[in-house]
Amino acid sequence: MNVLGIESSCDETSVAIISNDVLTANLISSQDFHADYGGVVPELSSRAHLQIVKPLLDQALKKSNLKLSDIDLITATSGPGLIGALLVGLTFAKGLSFSLNKPFIAVNHIEGHIFSGFLMKEKPEFPFLALVVSGGHTLLLYIKSFTEILQLGTTVDDAAGEAFDKVSKMLGFGYPGGPKIQAAAEKGDENKISFPIAVLKDEYNFSYSGLKTAVLRFIQKNFNDGEEISEQMKNDMSASFQKAAVDALILNCEKALKNYDVNSISLVGGVAANKKLRKGITKLAEDHNKKVVIPAFEFCGDNAAMIALRGKTLYDAGIRNDLSTKPYPSLGENYFSKSGK
Ligand code: KG4
Ligand code: ZN
Repeated sequence: MNVLGIESSCDETSVAIISNDVLTANLISSQDFHADYGGVVPELSSRAHLQIVKPLLDQALKKSNLKLSDIDLITATSGPGLIGALLVGLTFAKGLSFSLNKPFIAVNHIEGHIFSGFLMKEKPEFPFLALVVSGGHTLLLYIKSFTEILQLGTTVDDAAGEAFDKVSKMLGFGYPGGPKIQAAAEKGDENKISFPIAVLKDEYNFSYSGLKTAVLRFIQKNFNDGEEISEQMKNDMSASFQKAAVDALILNCEKALKNYDVNSISLVGGVAANKKLRKGITKLAEDHNKKVVIPAFEFCGDNAAMIALRGKTLYDAGIRNDLSTKPYPSLGENYFSKSGK
């Protein structure tokens, strides 16, 4: 079976093909020009998706030695994301489905990330704990099966990736912040400044706005308006911020491991590219004798391989979508249901 995946929820256009359960193409075109604006400009993003999606499809088919008519199942991200950007990939996929007369599955982007560990040779084993950390989401989930997802915790304000991006902006590093903060942190002292970790009543939830504000207050208190912050101080602030941001994630995972009997832990989403976080989750898993699955870098950020894989699992579970499908359908009522445990 040849499964086509299309992803266009934000600033990456991606087309992937999974052929008889083997990933034969995962092409990702990143829209680097948004850096000039300090963040993603939705309208420019939509236009760029429109220009690149068809050439990417042609390349993916060529790389997979397939013709368009060989595709058996078409999957695309249906949300969440930038609505104009989503519409490009989604409408393109629906057009293909209609003209080729092949089934179509609309995939929830977060579910794509959740199951991205299954793209690896060593796969998560059910039930597993998933920590989803991206620019828009911070979720701790108990995954019982491909169709049973229990949400344990979420952010009550900013997402972890968003905090990295905002602190990066404050320090003048620009967008996207995660990799820039990480690079600066490698040259800094993470114990230099003690930034706070939010501990919430709802035990598995996260909060990042307090940490972000603490960094802002630190700058306001120690540097006059317009005063240059030394490179070493920026490195120390990056390292100290990164430590607080990562420790908060690990802390909740550790709590969940005490209360939920799982076989594996999977760290996914754009922030899963962070080296300190990868190391921390790996150590936590080892300490608790659990298998750890962290996708390779190409599957951490937005990519269509995870969309094709998720679409295939839904198709195999008997889910069918028609072309009038609204955004966020995937599992319907079961999605993030409270009945997983
Ligand atoms: O999953 P993703 O590619 O897009 C969304 O669905 O949001 O995640 C993007 C986020 C951005 O906030 C980016 O700053 C962050 O992932 N990120 C990182 C690193 N690489 C990307 N955060 C921390 N450390 C990194 N190395
Ligand atoms: Zn994402």
